[in-house]
Amino acid sequence: MKTFTSIKQLGDIKQALAEAAWVKDNPFADQDLGRNKTLLMVFFNNSLRTRLSTQKAALNLGMNVIVLDVAQGAWKLETERGVVMDGDKSEHLLEAIPVMGSYCDVIGLRSFARFESKEDDYNEVILNQFIRYSGKPVFSMEAATRHPLQTYADLLTIEEHRTKERPKVVLTWAPHPKALPQAVPNSFAEGMSMTDWDFVIANPEGYDLAPEFTCGARITHNQDEALEGADFVYAKNWASYSSYGKVLSQDRSWTVTSEKMALTDNAFFMHCLPVRRNMIVSDDVIESSRSLVIPEASNRVVSAQTVLKKMLI
Ligand code: CP
Repeated sequence: MKTFTSIKQLGDIKQALAEAAWVKDNPFADQDLGRNKTLLMVFFNNSLRTRLSTQKAALNLGMNVIVLDVAQGAWKLETERGVVMDGDKSEHLLEAIPVMGSYCDVIGLRSFARFESKEDDYNEVILNQFIRYSGKPVFSMEAATRHPLQTYADLLTIEEHRTKERPKVVLTWAPHPKALPQAVPNSFAEGMSMTDWDFVIANPEGYDLAPEFTCGARITHNQDEALEGADFVYAKNWASYSSYGKVLSQDRSWTVTSEKMALTDNAFFMHCLPVRRNMIVSDDVIESSRSLVIPEASNRVVSAQTVLKKMLI
């Protein structure tokens, strides 16, 4: 595997989940695969889980790891071609990328949507430049439109906890004070389309995700109706796609509370974290025995290790 930018690249999702389960049970079985290989993790944006879980995954595979936080200590990077670089940016990405590639064997990249240009974000301009110019295998640690390592961990978490052949899974928008990218919900919707599980997306009007990611999923603007009989509730905020990058609502009636969870079939609560308590979800729901946020985050090691393994073989 030379790139990993979308959950769809895993192919048969049942097989991919079985592979992940095997890696989880045998975390040190492939220590020789990464011997004398170096992973470079490049962060244009902050991270807690991705940073630690991907590093742990690489260590489990016997790799060395180096980390670059672009905003902390590196030269400020120009990303546009044709710009006269007479401002505060000292280095161009087009030199920086092959230099980074020369220091490693695999690159993990985090580069969020900037909300400056829908076209640039949805064309994954930064991620694609790393793929084109680094000369090394590149995987996404959350790019502008997708977060496939998160989705892989999410699907594994559902697989581990489902008691029904075809559980009802609800992705619900929830309020947040800032404009957040659509990468997590896009990717989750894309991943759910690879399963035969019952999937519903609930969001306020103006917040429909791009159809290329929802893949024909049922979309409702009535959260209560969506939550009825749910087995898993996956909460997430995202900014508007149609009014690109805008916060159109902070309607707290969409916060996932115990009253909302009472509409479900004793559903598990999921969120990728970090989460704003009492905006996205109430304290009691996230602290309840039905909250999967910690096992979900823990499975990020497994998803990263399974993907890294594929890139090393
Ligand atoms: N869920 C997730 O990707 O967390 P971080 O942003 O902390 O890496």
